[in-house]
Amino acid sequence: MKNTTEFVHWFRSVAPYIHSFRGKTFVIAFGGELVAEGGFVQLAHDVNLLNSLGVRVVLVHGVRPQVEARLTENGTAIRYVNGLRVTDDTALACVKEAAGTVRVEIEALLSLGIANTPMAGADIRVASGNFVTAQPQGVREGVDLLHTGEVRKIDAAAIRRRLDQHDIVLLSPIGYSPTGEIFNLSLEDVATQAAVELAADKLIFLIDTEGVPGEDGSIHNALTVREAREVMAKADKLPEDVTYYLPCAVTACTGGVKRAHLISRHRDGALLSELFTRDGVGTLVTPSPLETLRPATIDDVGGILGLIEPLERDGILVRRSRELLEMEVERFLVLESDGVIAGCAALYPFPEEDAAELACLAVSREFRGRGFGERLLAEAEKHGRKAGFKRLFVLTTRSEHWFEERGFVETGLERLPQRKQALYNYKRKSKVLEKSLQS
Ligand SMILES: CC(C)(COP(=O)(O)OP(=O)(O)OC[C@H]1O[C@@H](n2cnc3c(N)ncnc32)[C@H](O)[C@@H]1OP(=O)(O)O)[C@@H](O)C(=O)NCCC(=O)NCCS
Repeated sequence: MKNTTEFVHWFRSVAPYIHSFRGKTFVIAFGGELVAEGGFVQLAHDVNLLNSLGVRVVLVHGVRPQVEARLTENGTAIRYVNGLRVTDDTALACVKEAAGTVRVEIEALLSLGIANTPMAGADIRVASGNFVTAQPQGVREGVDLLHTGEVRKIDAAAIRRRLDQHDIVLLSPIGYSPTGEIFNLSLEDVATQAAVELAADKLIFLIDTEGVPGEDGSIHNALTVREAREVMAKADKLPEDVTYYLPCAVTACTGGVKRAHLISRHRDGALLSELFTRDGVGTLVTPSPLETLRPATIDDVGGILGLIEPLERDGILVRRSRELLEMEVERFLVLESDGVIAGCAALYPFPEEDAAELACLAVSREFRGRGFGERLLAEAEKHGRKAGFKRLFVLTTRSEHWFEERGFVETGLERLPQRKQALYNYKRKSKVLEKSLQS
């Protein structure tokens, strides 16, 4: 950061997140690679920070590379039959050893408290134990998977008691059965079930890639469960780790978890960037809302008029006749909630200047403050980007700050496309704001 003003501005900007995260439960899951390759040190710093901000943290670690290394040393390998992992006695011994070692390494790194490091003054208690009850996967397609298990139950009450005491709970991919057997579990199964049972506010997977890629290769910033399912239907194009974790994110969100995040484990500070910045760095998955956001059709004209007329009467929006709206309806997006048009926005292209105008952004009074305006804006930006526009501008008399808080900056009339400048109404004195669509 260049100067203290910038620092102060940044620090204040994260205050709303700090308030909203206090007392919330986050389940953070990562593969054994993070520990094997030394990346857990940075994560420990960030987990320490979350813990000190009052976030209730549950960590779930994997052990795959550690198990594979031990098996290789023994001259054996994890056996897969028809794509299913078989844990025989030798493999189980390696899993137990690996889980023990990784757990101890994690606990050691979370116990650091050296002065002049981000861990200075940290006094973290890590709680681990028999929180996970498992059952055998049994015989699948004629193959006995032996000690490979799946989660049967998570002792959410016991985990909550530890979290109430401000402990960080650490879960390993191991579960015990009431018969005293030990089972090798997948970290994603443990993390997902724990998040569901705890009704966690967030389930965060640290993955190998940057997030869920879209058709054009760029990373999806956010997906609803419905959209995530559509992406999964084209699974052949997805990176392997996304094919493991995206279905878990969907299961979690349909099971009551409020948000699931897929972020890169390779990017230092990815966790903090995802949590404390508006746009984040990975892919956010949210439960499918009852609302739908879609391009408007001629049948929506009545609903849009009903929404914008009161705002036109108050001089907040420029008047549009029904005829004009009917002609321009394909420029509109609408957000429908239970059959009611709750919000709309229009995008007018100025291709000669690689720009588009966001106009008529409106949310009905009874639906305000639920993020509808923001969703309409994000969708309009997506459409603008897809159409190849480099910037989005908006003219507003009352909502300048709303746009500024979402990345727009005030600019002068001269930045408007020529055609728009000619139409500028000097009586309205609208402010002109713009936002770059280039990342
Ligand atoms: C601007 C508008 C679209 C926002 O819709 P919304 O669905 O309520 O927006 P969101 O839920 O995404 O955001 C709500 C937040 O914005 C804030 N906000 C709403 N209007 C604001 C304004 N005019 N200036 C600054 N902040 C504003 C709310 O206080 C709320 O803040 P919080 O999250 O800290 O509580 C809506 O207020 C509206 O229809 N305004 C009238 C039309 C208009 O001015 N359109 C812009 C010109 S095209």
